[in-house]
Amino acid sequence: MKQSLLIDKYGRQLNYLRLSVTDRCNFRCYYCMPEEGINFAPRKELMTFDEMLLLSTTFCNLGISKIRITGGEPFVRNGIMPFLKKLSVVKGLNEITVTSNGTLSAKYQAELLQMGIRKINISLDSLSRERFEHITRRDTFDSVYAGIFKLLDNGFEVKLNCVVAENKNIQDIVPFIELTKNHSLSVRFLEEMPFNGSDGSQVQSDWDYKRIYGHIEQYYPEINRLISDANSTSVNYKISGYKGSFGIIPSFSRTFCGTCNRIRLSATGELRTCLYGPPVINLRDLLRKGASIDDLEQAILHAVSQRERDGYAAEVASKGAIHTSMSVLGG
Ligand code: GTP
Ligand code: 5AD
Ligand code: SF4
Repeated sequence: MKQSLLIDKYGRQLNYLRLSVTDRCNFRCYYCMPEEGINFAPRKELMTFDEMLLLSTTFCNLGISKIRITGGEPFVRNGIMPFLKKLSVVKGLNEITVTSNGTLSAKYQAELLQMGIRKINISLDSLSRERFEHITRRDTFDSVYAGIFKLLDNGFEVKLNCVVAENKNIQDIVPFIELTKNHSLSVRFLEEMPFNGSDGSQVQSDWDYKRIYGHIEQYYPEINRLISDANSTSVNYKISGYKGSFGIIPSFSRTFCGTCNRIRLSATGELRTCLYGPPVINLRDLLRKGASIDDLEQAILHAVSQRERDGYAAEVASKGAIHTSMSVLGG
């Protein structure tokens, strides 16, 4: 791994930037935002693509080598494809990946492949059309589902993200694993987090990774644990003979903080050194005030030097305000 200049005081090197290009989304998933009354950022508060490109280049000069494009839903932002094209030739950037709800990604497949983008994570919480609609408040299961197989046929590496919750999709866990029998994709089960844009009512995820694993174990006596990347959010497994794999992301339990290599930039320029923490600086504001590249680099290095040890310490620093919608945080 190339040495990154972004090293926090606990010795963690940051080389993975999660860049949110919009806070808007064409879904209304219950765990992310309310059905109505959402305050999306006014257009002028969103970073322009030129600003995003400049900041991305600055991050890559400092050692970022992977950028994940997130949202909201990244493909709802006009001009996303020309931006990705420019981003794909930034020096030092080895990999661009995308997290999408899968409604629009299918139509951009050829272009994405041309730019070398071939890893995509799709949020899919149910294999039943009715439950999908209940969860997302949209009736688009059929096209999302068909889009996933088009991605696979075209050679994309696909991970499905499934947020597990009581009374929502427990009955989907086994069917999702069965999907990995004949398809080489990875299904990851996520603990629900409190980032739902609510007025602060806390989510206490009662389906934590242990319970999810215990549920799966009842159906599959032989589960093989896979060796995962050092910075993986998911603990990964495979059923013998199945083409694909599955994983569990302890996003609420936060057991992977010790190896966290991620930093986040929201669509309005807020920099977060932890998903559970407050924004530590607004880089869009700095840029619009005329900051030089050197000023930006110093601000980023300073923010990283102040990074909290883990998501629990960061949560304390956020003073209990951890209900910001995931569409604002960028996941
Ligand atoms: P890969 O790059 O494929 O490993 O994906 P990823 O897991 O980094 O990205 P993805 O956008 O698919 O994120 C899936 C989920 O993992 C997020 O929505 C969060 O639930 C969780 N997650 C990702 N990064 C963090 C993190 O730094 N802290 C916590 N607590 N959860 C995270
Ligand atoms: N808890 C857990 N996961 C969430 N996501 C969005 N909101 C939440 C939440 N409150 C997931 C989506 C998407 C990923 C980026 O974040 O499923 O796949
Ligand atoms: Fe990183 Fe914070 Fe997530 Fe832990 S909770 S893995 S420190 S972003």
